[in-house]
Amino acid sequence: SEAARAAVAQVAAADPLPGNASLAFNWQGMQRVFNFDVVFEEAASQSEVFDNCGVKDLIQLALEGYNCTCFAYGQTNSGKTYTMTDPPDETQQHGVSGLAGQSRGLVPRSFTHIFDLLRSRGAQGFKVYATYFEIYNEQITDLLNPRSIYPHTIRWSSTSGFYVDNLFVIECDSADDLMGVLAA
Ligand SMILES: Nc1ncnc2c1ncn2[C@@H]1O[C@H](COP(=O)(O)OP(=O)(O)O)[C@@H](O)[C@H]1O
Ligand SMILES: [Mg+2]
Repeated sequence: SEAARAAVAQVAAADPLPGNASLAFNWQGMQRVFNFDVVFEEAASQSEVFDNCGVKDLIQLALEGYNCTCFAYGQTNSGKTYTMTDPPDETQQHGVSGLAGQSRGLVPRSFTHIFDLLRSRGAQGFKVYATYFEIYNEQITDLLNPRSIYPHTIRWSSTSGFYVDNLFVIECDSADDLMGVLAA
């Protein structure tokens, strides 16, 4: 909305660097202030979002052994799929190869970043495994094996934390392997 645009413009002018952003909205005569670690302008590029949204820090932490989650939340059409993967029309036109372009989102950029970090550390003994599943209406579907006859249940163990059992697991040696999983 106009109000949101004005508020975002205000924040951008006051604090051009990521961190400690707040947005003020006037709604039915009341002012509401929302605080965020980072707020992006409408025109922010996919690479700006990737560099500043914190996902790089999460990847770093994941390599140090923490469980990390990147979660996209918002109403339909708000841009979750675009931001996480790529513009939908791009995938339709170019298939996954479109994911190599400027417009590719957080997930393919993260794949590349994971292997860049592993390489730059000269990492030994790391193995990267991928699973790909969907939870919709409380039902879990293994997107790498949608017709799986095994039930999928969310479990927890003291050694693995939370996980979904009976998922198809693929070992990945490169960002391209991971990209293949996404395309499955
Ligand atoms: N950052 C953006 N820049 C340009 N267009 C965008 C952006 N984010 C979303 N869109 C467009 O808005 C529409 C809805 O985005 P989409 O990612 O499908 O929303 P969601 O997954 O949240 O339902 C799509 O046509 C998409 O291309
Ligand atoms: Mg979507």
